[in-house]
Amino acid sequence: MERHLAVLALLLRGAVAQILRYAPVERLVGPEFFQHWNFYTGPDPTHGTVEFVSEPEAWNRKLLSASSLGVFMGVDNATKLGSEGGRKAVRIESKNSYNGGMFVLTLDHVPTACGAWPAFWMFGDDAQHAWPRWGEYDILESIHVQDYATTTLHTRASCDQREVNNGIDFVGQGWAAGSAGTNKAKNCWVKAPQEYDNQGCGQKLPEGSFGPSFNKNQGGTFVAEWDKVRKFMRTWFFPAGKEPIDLVASAPQPDMWGTPNSFFTLNERWCTADHFKNMRIVFDTTFCGDYAGSTFKAMCPWLKTSCEDYVRNNPSAFSDAFWSIQKLDVYQKVDAATLAVPHRAFNPNPTRSLEPSSMLRDRRAPPLLSLQFAFSCRGLKAAAPVVVVDDAGETTSESPSSNGRLRRMGSTTTNCA
Ligand SMILES: *[C@@H]1O[C@H](CO)[C@@H](O)[C@H](O)[C@H]1NC(C)=O
Repeated sequence: MERHLAVLALLLRGAVAQILRYAPVERLVGPEFFQHWNFYTGPDPTHGTVEFVSEPEAWNRKLLSASSLGVFMGVDNATKLGSEGGRKAVRIESKNSYNGGMFVLTLDHVPTACGAWPAFWMFGDDAQHAWPRWGEYDILESIHVQDYATTTLHTRASCDQREVNNGIDFVGQGWAAGSAGTNKAKNCWVKAPQEYDNQGCGQKLPEGSFGPSFNKNQGGTFVAEWDKVRKFMRTWFFPAGKEPIDLVASAPQPDMWGTPNSFFTLNERWCTADHFKNMRIVFDTTFCGDYAGSTFKAMCPWLKTSCEDYVRNNPSAFSDAFWSIQKLDVYQKVDAATLAVPHRAFNPNPTRSLEPSSMLRDRRAPPLLSLQFAFSCRGLKAAAPVVVVDDAGETTSESPSSNGRLRRMGSTTTNCA
């Protein structure tokens, strides 16, 4: 009997030590928001009628603001451009890159306008690994005045999601349509047959997850969870006020939330987890181009002009093409046992720990959570520095003849009709 108890105790100890919980490691809000990002100023890889401006220019033109109340990222809504050039806007990419985690975005306004194509997404690349070697996870993307967002993966070959079931694994508005009649876009490879060039595999989030109705309803929260160990990417949309209380309390337990609004498997049989690596977070708003250009006439039929002309010459039509963000938190999994232990035992310098850590921007956070952040941030920083690993020898682009990056990152023409 005693021996059984000892074995049981051992088993329990083993089990307890393995419970992982999400803890916040970065809070990208407040006046310092823009310090976490690089401003991309190159040509739009998606051929948009846009000019991505530098950070100083964006501030000068009042396209940005950041305070404890939130972050604003708009587009130029004062300039008429005539017949050439692109509307000024911003595209920012996080200085950190990630290999998993949970990304929680709370907004009260998303960009919406005929001709606009805003997105919140992640992708990885470096000089040796051209897109899509390290993949792309479009958490939110929408066009024109559409009232929902789509979540899409774009990958190199061998990432097929056909075992994932609409209505069982995810609930929303189902798969995006492919290019051949009634087929669905379940293959994430950017060159998949029966899909538009670089279409990727797409799942449509519920009505109200974007556009004018999202803005009218005070917005909401999106959670993107990328878990290489459990082998999936899951995305949830919660309308404002409908966020789970554990999430509001910064202790999210996504397994309690029910079926996600988007689900992609990273099971090795269908899509190995190494399709995604070293991804940076991106916000951008572009206009027309590969996707919003080809859909403009169908989706904004009351405008009797071309997408490009409309974007160039109707500045005030873009006054709603702005992001207003309350929160962008990044969580990583930590051993739950470490969260439960009184922090004093772990802290060599207890007086300092009572101050919010440098990562903790939200001074309104309750003290208990502040202590957790201070601990978890330190722990994570020590355990998992953001390192971009060069694994030479891997395929670096889809086709040797292309110069790599297609829709997002390159100059090759695509047709995402
Ligand atoms: C530009 O957009 C901002 C944000 O919606 C708005 O406050 C401002 O009045 C607009 N300016 C013009 C000239 O329309």
